[in-house]
Amino acid sequence: MTDEDTPARDATRALTPGMRNRFHIPTAPDGAPAIYLAGQSLGLQPRTASPAIKAELDAWARHGVDAWFDPARPWFTLDTTLRESMARIVGARPVEVALLNSLTVNIHLLLASFFQPHGRRRRILADGPLFPSDRHALTSHLAQRGQDPAADLVIVGPHDGEHLVRIEDLETAIADQADDLALVFLGGVNFATGQAFDIERLTAAGHHAGAVVGWDLAHAAGNVELALHDWDVDFAAWCTYKYLNGGPGSVGSIFVHERHARDRSIPRLGGWWGLDPDVRFDPQGPFAPAEGAAGWATSTTSIIALAPVAASLAIFDEVGMPPLRARSIALTGHLEACLADVPIEVITPRDPASRGAQLSLRHDDAEALLARLAARGVVADYRAPDLIRVAPIPLYTTVEEIERFVAILREILAESAESGP
Ligand SMILES: Cc1ncc(COP(=O)(O)O)c(C=O)c1O
Repeated sequence: MTDEDTPARDATRALTPGMRNRFHIPTAPDGAPAIYLAGQSLGLQPRTASPAIKAELDAWARHGVDAWFDPARPWFTLDTTLRESMARIVGARPVEVALLNSLTVNIHLLLASFFQPHGRRRRILADGPLFPSDRHALTSHLAQRGQDPAADLVIVGPHDGEHLVRIEDLETAIADQADDLALVFLGGVNFATGQAFDIERLTAAGHHAGAVVGWDLAHAAGNVELALHDWDVDFAAWCTYKYLNGGPGSVGSIFVHERHARDRSIPRLGGWWGLDPDVRFDPQGPFAPAEGAAGWATSTTSIIALAPVAASLAIFDEVGMPPLRARSIALTGHLEACLADVPIEVITPRDPASRGAQLSLRHDDAEALLARLAARGVVADYRAPDLIRVAPIPLYTTVEEIERFVAILREILAESAESGP
């Protein structure tokens, strides 16, 4: 096959020319650009991020407190101006989306509203392996309501000897426990295995059982195409520092379906940032939440942390999710094809519809392997006990990098095999 007729290279041409140059590429130990395959953990920095932060620092320096109401670009409503861009990424209506806090805090805020045990319906069902922060969040909400997490947090994981969760197992567990479930809380793309679930199908299964259905989309937002409104998801939360390239600890985002978002009677943890901006300063007024997901905000949003998110969302606006996903499917497919005869196990589903950009590679000596990859200029990450996660990112990873990574991996594995255990 020549360079020209490789399908992945065709897809490479589909995104805006020069897109990779819009990002800072980290440096390898030898001074060359690193092969960065860790965008599923921390996305790279857009070159526009630093000027965006600088602009807010300048506004602070020039206007002080008046920058909150600077008519040209008021900080007071900066978070709401980003809702449309975020809504396009997750397939939502702008009113259903808000930018606030970070992910686990947002999961807590949403659980306070949407985990409402009543009568027999007291359990939460989740998929495993469950990200540690999610497990702690769910457990603490059960404990706070006087429930026993050991009994009331039901985790449906892979069968013994398997790596992936069978969707039928989730559906069966949901149906079997229908009378006991208050909430189904699932990950859109599993952090460890890279398995992507059929969100529409599982949301329907949860609703059929009479449960509320929420999603952690940390590894799905900006990675796979989503249609949260049409799929009738009740609520969801995600971070912006992975596929959304918003920077470490950047401002997170939530989705609350319109039918709940406009319902002011839903109990929620209050704070002034969740009020309509017009009455935010009212000293005596009742808690009258802002319309939509914005009504779940509580505290002042960090303007400095929001600036790089805005810079990154502008790139997503320009590219659009469908072309981005098309290139992602091609790149990850190419990576998988290159790995076909490499002695390492790929545990991520083979079907592109059941995965995003990430492939999880299983190896008994994964941690040592990662260190050797790092020494050769490859940035990936390790999840105990035996996984290396790699993700070609459609905005900045090249086909040539994928091929170089696989060549390096092949060499390292051959060297290890020669030197023995
Ligand atoms: C699936 C998942 N859930 C939750 C979190 C926690 O996010 P945060 O530290 O922003 O609360 C992460 C972070 O990587 C994650 O991957």
